[in-house]
Amino acid sequence: MLTKEQLLNTVQHLHDPEFQLGLTELQLIRDVVIKEGRVSATVLLSNEDETYKEQLQEQISVAFRNAGAGEVHLRFRPMTEYDRNEAARKLQEHTVQANTETAAVRDILAPEAGVHFIAIASGKGGVGKSTVTVNLAVALARLGKKVGLIDADIYGFSVPDMMGIEDKPELVGNRIVPIERFGVKVISMGFFVEENTPVIWRGPMLGKMLRNFFQEVNWGDVEYVLLDLPPGTGDVALDVHQMIPQSKEIIVTTPHATAAFVAARAGAMAKHTNHEIIGIVENMSYYQCGKCGEKDYVFGRGGGAKLAEELHTDLLIQVPLGAPDNHVAEPDYSPSVYKQDSETGKLYVDLARKVINKAE
Ligand SMILES: Nc1ncnc2c1ncn2[C@@H]1O[C@H](COP(=O)(O)OP(=O)(O)O)[C@@H](O)[C@H]1O
Ligand SMILES: [Mg+2]
Repeated sequence: MLTKEQLLNTVQHLHDPEFQLGLTELQLIRDVVIKEGRVSATVLLSNEDETYKEQLQEQISVAFRNAGAGEVHLRFRPMTEYDRNEAARKLQEHTVQANTETAAVRDILAPEAGVHFIAIASGKGGVGKSTVTVNLAVALARLGKKVGLIDADIYGFSVPDMMGIEDKPELVGNRIVPIERFGVKVISMGFFVEENTPVIWRGPMLGKMLRNFFQEVNWGDVEYVLLDLPPGTGDVALDVHQMIPQSKEIIVTTPHATAAFVAARAGAMAKHTNHEIIGIVENMSYYQCGKCGEKDYVFGRGGGAKLAEELHTDLLIQVPLGAPDNHVAEPDYSPSVYKQDSETGKLYVDLARKVINKAE
């Protein structure tokens, strides 16, 4: 059975020349009656041009017939004053909505958007920077914050794997929609390269890619955006500093004295580019014996405290050694996200609280 909706769907692409919206959206096709395969309707015209009317007659009749109508009978009448006001109102509503949408997308970098940017930096790789970024993001979401995460480690992206993300983002209206996992909206270079293809872009392309992560992504309503920076003080890290002057920083180190020394360079870079350092996270601080509870400081002691002192900031948490107790068979499996009620999971919620206090 042919329905009115089916018929109107076939002419959605026809736009009114004056009001710039679809004839159906403007409700300019009315009184649709279907009787034994015979369709009649009234079409409202915004102008008196005879050719326009003939064109519409042709286009609508063909579309209706293709949808299964036998005979098509169209009546035409000019829009009244009232019809014109209604159409103008619809057009305005439409414009306001479109503007709000683009503004929300475009402006997360604008200071007045009020988004808190937090870059997670480290002096070198392998200290757990990505692990800290992912778990801090999830902990902020667990506290009810709206969180985004940009995996800005373009060569060494790891966030999708760490969070157990297997989907690829979709495009909606020319914007990339981030993948949401554990309440965190994630975007990563890993979404855009084929499996295990090395990323060989250099310099300007990298900066461009990074900029796209802000401007081509529909972040929607986010309060915190965390950035997993590449390790060290290279070009990309510098790019991020310059792109988001309002970004604050967390520096990750291991407890070893030389690790803290190397991390201090990342801190110096933050200071140099006027980025406020929120504090230090010391990762892999100790191993806690499951049986006796005793702490064994396998990688040495004091690196985090020393670094905090040197950079005139706080040591926020010390995260012990230990992988999350997750299993592949679990529905929400992720290799690197600590469960909310685990010891380390609780530490990350503490960290999130401290971060919120310092940021807001
Ligand atoms: N507290 C921890 N205990 C045990 N393993 C950890 C801990 N933090 C990180 N790791 C592991 O160490 C490795 C490096 O961590 P990652 O977060 O990738 O470091 P980065 O981003 O600094 O290179 C990963 O395999 C990660 O799972
Ligand atoms: Mg990493």
